[in-house]
Amino acid sequence: MRLRLARSRTTLVRAGLTIALASVLAGCDEAHSVFHPRTTEARRVAFLGWLMIGIATAVFLLVLALLVRSFFGPPLRRRSAGGTSWIASGGIALPTTVVILLSGLTVWAMNDTRTGGGIEISAIGHQYWWEIRYPGTAAVTGNEFHIPVGRSVHLSITSTDVIHSLWVPELGPKRDMIPGHTTELTWHADEPGTFRGQCAEFCGLQHAEMALIVVADPPEVFDRWLATQAADASAPSTAVAQRGEQVFTTEPCAACHTVRGSVATGTVGPDLTHFGSRATLGAGVLSNNAEHVASWIANAQSFKPGSLMPPIDLSADEVRDLTAYLEGLR
Ligand code: CUA
Repeated sequence: MRLRLARSRTTLVRAGLTIALASVLAGCDEAHSVFHPRTTEARRVAFLGWLMIGIATAVFLLVLALLVRSFFGPPLRRRSAGGTSWIASGGIALPTTVVILLSGLTVWAMNDTRTGGGIEISAIGHQYWWEIRYPGTAAVTGNEFHIPVGRSVHLSITSTDVIHSLWVPELGPKRDMIPGHTTELTWHADEPGTFRGQCAEFCGLQHAEMALIVVADPPEVFDRWLATQAADASAPSTAVAQRGEQVFTTEPCAACHTVRGSVATGTVGPDLTHFGSRATLGAGVLSNNAEHVASWIANAQSFKPGSLMPPIDLSADEVRDLTAYLEGLR
């Protein structure tokens, strides 16, 4: 009986250590990780993360040691002076110190993450995609932020429906997107790169598929990109894309999407003026290529159930034409 109990304790301890190790290693993926910070703000968050893991590990080991001692050591005397000091130190002093320390460091980590100045970007959360505007220009895009390296980027953040949270772990902390309220965040990319972001507040059925990318480019590349995005869509140049534009403006597409420079001015879904230049569609659900666009148009619900994009009843030729039109919007 005693042997079986000892074995089950060993199994329990082993399982605990395995889970703890797995949790730490799960955060070590190179992409989309708090532990690969690329900015000063993100480095503070990473430091805080490691410190929390360190404190949690120390507390875990302490509790484990006490547990082992309670199993195998001599029994503690009840109401001893030692018992009272354990409650005072382990139950009051230690948690109070840890909470005060982490609260102070959290305030320090949040410092300077909402300063003004630099490039202005307006980020608006929708179920389940990101609307991105560049105030002062006509540029509007979806699910893909572009920012210049070496310049501050000031984000004004809100939502049109429910609470979302904008989170790009390699660039900085999370910021909630609250309907009717504007929050702020500053990004300052030190080097070029593409960084994945994710909605970090449960917002409905497709919360997990509400991803984004941030492309940090050298300032001159960013300036060219912004000028292109601010321009209207150029008229389709091929016969198939011209037919696609006809489909786009006569079928339900135009009621929900805008293509600046055309008669399509819908505001329910993402602005598609330069859709062909984006890397993904459906807020990161699929990579942006002709095959995926055609499948998405035919039945977006099979990729993203619960999104507002309905299945569109089109012939195979119409889907081909529409795809050519959308892919040509660069
Ligand atoms: Cu938007 Cu979760």
